[in-house]
Amino acid sequence: MALTTLIKALPKAELHLHIEGTLSPTLMWELAQKHGIQLPFQSVAEIETAYQFSDLQSFLDLYYAGADVLREEDDFYQLMKAYLLRCKENNIVHTEIMFDPQTHTHRGVAFDVFMTGFLRAITEAKTDWGVSVRLIMSFLRHLSEADAIQTLQDAEPWYDIIDAVGLDSSELGNPPEKFERVFSQARAIGFKVVAHAGEEGPPDYIWQAINLLGIDRIDHGVRCAEDKELMALIKHRQIPLTVCPLSNLKLKVIEDMAAHNILDLLEDGLLVTVNSDDPTYFGGFLNENFMALETALGMTEQQCRQLVKNSFKASFLPDGDKQKWLAQVDEI
Ligand code: HPA
Ligand code: ZN
Repeated sequence: MALTTLIKALPKAELHLHIEGTLSPTLMWELAQKHGIQLPFQSVAEIETAYQFSDLQSFLDLYYAGADVLREEDDFYQLMKAYLLRCKENNIVHTEIMFDPQTHTHRGVAFDVFMTGFLRAITEAKTDWGVSVRLIMSFLRHLSEADAIQTLQDAEPWYDIIDAVGLDSSELGNPPEKFERVFSQARAIGFKVVAHAGEEGPPDYIWQAINLLGIDRIDHGVRCAEDKELMALIKHRQIPLTVCPLSNLKLKVIEDMAAHNILDLLEDGLLVTVNSDDPTYFGGFLNENFMALETALGMTEQQCRQLVKNSFKASFLPDGDKQKWLAQVDEI
């Protein structure tokens, strides 16, 4: 079987995906019209051509501006439903989705508006397509820790449907240590914890995420390769890294895809996974990220299978479900 066919055929899990980063230019345009919002673009095509970034911040500026079209329950429903349809098309059978409450509450959009919209789409997708979903509530690290603590409190009515908390947004200058208390509170409640670290930030931020936040997974983490001792620890503990190849390329974390270290990390025995991060902004959903590794790095079938298996191993699914999916991967 050609590798491209195999990529499409294998059941996969996605573990690093921001729902706000799945807003398509078309939906952005439609929602702007619906709400009478003046976008700084004249057409859908103009939005598409604006998606050129020099670093993480240049992307975040556009990403937060784009999220402003999300105002009502149905907007969040449509956003989530469109991504879950992509899951079905990409054969993503399980997805652990990040959402950024502060991006919405700070604009006066209340928790129950986005949560009910998300839930309606998730319930339909589970019933109609069998997609399994977990939710990760992410704190914006450019805001204060007090704001994150308030957000954790405001989320209380929704604790039953949230599995984990995360940390995203502008990494440089906002180290994990800034959020030690809120992560400790989240762990005490029983949440799993993840954090973006080592995307643009130095290996020290990964150390902090491990030692101070007690994370279960690192989002990105590709800069761990600069620190041998850190690499050894991540390997020894099999701490998963949720790597996002097209994101790294678009945000200039790497110069070109041929320079990506994901397969080196895999061959070194780290539990790395492939993910799409913000697919509508970075030019591809999950299967395109896998295909980029084939095209630019010559990913082998064996490496592809291992990356897909890692996606289930690194997930928050119960062991029985992990075993079921791992067996299914072996059957294809
Ligand atoms: N890094 C940090 N924050 C983010 C990202 C990312 O890749 N995507 C959405 N928010
Ligand atoms: Zn991310």
